[in-house]
Amino acid sequence: MGSAEVTPTPRQFNGDFRTDFLSVDQLTLEDLDTIHREADIMRALAQHRGEVSLLQGHVYDLVFWESPSTRTKESFKHAIIRLGGKFVDFHLESSSKEKGETFEDTITMLDSYLVAERDGFIIRNKEEGKLAAAAGIADAIVINAGDGSGEHPTQALLDTKTIRERFPSLEEIHVVFFGDIKGGRTVHSTAPLLAKMGVKRMTFAAPHEELRPDPHMIKALGEADVEVTETDDLREVAQDADVIYAVRTQYERWEDQAVARAKFTGKCLIMPEMIKGSRALVMHPLPEDKEDINFHPELRKLPGYIVNEQAANGQWTRMALLGLQAGKTATRLAELYGIKLKLLVTQNGNGCAVTV
Ligand code: NCD
Repeated sequence: MGSAEVTPTPRQFNGDFRTDFLSVDQLTLEDLDTIHREADIMRALAQHRGEVSLLQGHVYDLVFWESPSTRTKESFKHAIIRLGGKFVDFHLESSSKEKGETFEDTITMLDSYLVAERDGFIIRNKEEGKLAAAAGIADAIVINAGDGSGEHPTQALLDTKTIRERFPSLEEIHVVFFGDIKGGRTVHSTAPLLAKMGVKRMTFAAPHEELRPDPHMIKALGEADVEVTETDDLREVAQDADVIYAVRTQYERWEDQAVARAKFTGKCLIMPEMIKGSRALVMHPLPEDKEDINFHPELRKLPGYIVNEQAANGQWTRMALLGLQAGKTATRLAELYGIKLKLLVTQNGNGCAVTV
């Protein structure tokens, strides 16, 4: 939060969430448990009581400088509304960007409308590093909603929640990331967070040389004790996968999109026979590109296709984060209202289903 210098990575939360959220590196395991548990309580309160008013008086500015977004932006809006807060949806197309105003000047100005330590920014930018720049400028809290090809840490909150709900022990599972690993920023947050949670085996299946992962990420995962494999053929690893996490080709990151389309179209398509008999859950941060789909339509019928459940977790995890960053919790709200929560700890003791 606001300092003259650009802050590369803010401090770890360590139980105190009242700061910017730019990277999964900021999360301790306990912090992640807290967010996931809060998310369950948020869901239970919203579904059973319709009442989770925690953020009255808090204003959030959604600045999507890279404008396309459905799930991230809309789930944040739903989260804010459910929590009783308000948001301002910045419109890039009609903003003074057209007149040449920079991202930095825009953030400086919008920050003057917000109240430090109360309000927040939710920011997406197509250029990696701009989130750190915004955090250096703004006094209001900054949440990273997509930093070019860098990180997308709130997506990792929902991805990891979805995975931990399904597996008794993460140490035994094999997670396969498939598609444009190089450009897919969700992978760059979700893989390191899974490593932190104890996942010991990961495979990166990039079906084209130019979509392969950044060696820095591979090195960091190795140092975190993950056995990492790379392949260009999903079939080699599908039978031994517990999760197949697919990502679309990020054409917008290529200068000549027509050339990129000619090169990559069809490469990241999973056909039913490629994963036939596999026990794997199939995940995707979405969207799918209708010109270059990742899933043959048959795959949507598989019981392991949990893409919609994954997306739904976006609202609950983002509610949890927003509440915690404002220093408020659904747990405390339930206490105040005299609502009894029954925490049903799952087999692994990780997650918790909640009844009201
Ligand atoms: C992703 C993103 O924007 O990084 N989508 C999302 O936030 N759910 C994935 C993508 O665009 O491919």
